[in-house]
Amino acid sequence: MKLKSLDEIKKLKGKRVLVRVDFNVPLKKSGARIVVADNTKIRAALPTIKYLLGQGAKVILMSHLGDPGGKAKKNLSLKPIGAALGKLLLMKGTAPADWEGRKGLKKIDEMKTGEVMMLENLRFHVGEEKNDRKFAAGLASLADIYVNDAFAAAHRAHASIVGVPKFLPSYAGLLMKKEISVLGSLLAKPSKPFVALIGGAKISTKISVIENLLKKVNSLLLGGALVNNFFKAAGYEIGASVYEPKELKTAKKLLKNKKIVLPVDFVVGDFKGKKARVVSVPKKKIALCKKPYALLDIGPETIKKYASIVRKAQTIVWNGPMGMFEIPKYSHGTIALGRLIAARSRGKVFGVVGGGETIEAIEKTKMAEYIDHISTGGGAMLEFLEGKVLPGIKPLLK
Ligand code: 3PG
Repeated sequence: MKLKSLDEIKKLKGKRVLVRVDFNVPLKKSGARIVVADNTKIRAALPTIKYLLGQGAKVILMSHLGDPGGKAKKNLSLKPIGAALGKLLLMKGTAPADWEGRKGLKKIDEMKTGEVMMLENLRFHVGEEKNDRKFAAGLASLADIYVNDAFAAAHRAHASIVGVPKFLPSYAGLLMKKEISVLGSLLAKPSKPFVALIGGAKISTKISVIENLLKKVNSLLLGGALVNNFFKAAGYEIGASVYEPKELKTAKKLLKNKKIVLPVDFVVGDFKGKKARVVSVPKKKIALCKKPYALLDIGPETIKKYASIVRKAQTIVWNGPMGMFEIPKYSHGTIALGRLIAARSRGKVFGVVGGGETIEAIEKTKMAEYIDHISTGGGAMLEFLEGKVLPGIKPLLK
């Protein structure tokens, strides 16, 4: 995949560069103020922003935040993000501009070399998600060059992602390039054995990635509530465990694939984490648990089994927790494997982790720094690993 990259732009001095970033970050209350709860995505965009500033460009940032549905919502303003970015860049916080108003346009017009400004939440406008041509043209009119650094939003065919590049010379930012290069290498030439761990709640969102990864990996270890579908499909009673009736047929088909590895035991308990016990998977398809109990984490034997496979891997990719890890009693599978992946990643094997909850889990291990690549993409990473050319990447190809 050959990309038009921002370091190929010859003259940036004095140019206005419109940069699509993904600053869709979690927020939290701090007294009366709303502040950024996790600035990982903002930090990830810094190399591109700093590069452009270093080249003397005028940087206009744009992002979505949450899902305001085309209306301005105070609690989804990019204001706290401007403040967080200001701190990271050691600059004055960049207040989001009402770029459609005369005041905002004047501000953009008067920008000086080496200045950064940010537009207000793109999804305050209906035109963004509808990929409205006029809206995209309006955005494009603010700048001379377009850079897309929002890998995490590259699976969305929205105006700021696929519309704007129709009007401006368009390039991939440094984060976009890095994500594509790392995730692309997983699909193209992974060192073997290649082991993938896929967890999380909904199998319907992971079927395509499971199917594509099965063509590439040596083993695919499954965990999280999505495995409930496999046990239900195999004829076990799974009590109150969540599953997707529509996906049982696919799960049954996937059960035949020898690369798929399923848990051999579970932590069974109630959803509040009050009562929990370990249950081995019996050969006979009888009850694994009964209502109100559910399968809420992989058990100790499964951790051992998965660990022995992970230990032999040369390439590891992990997306989705192994259990309901927000409750400490059901967090052991996720944390144990997270620690192992981090420990193995450090210089020995190539380890890639992605997805909002998985990143949260890896942060809990306090070993995130050892992972070779933590993708900023949740849905985007999955769709990329499905083998799709994401709509946001297409306009950036040579
Ligand atoms: C993400 O957080 O995965 C991206 O910012 C995409 O957000 P969206 O699912 O609201 O489009």
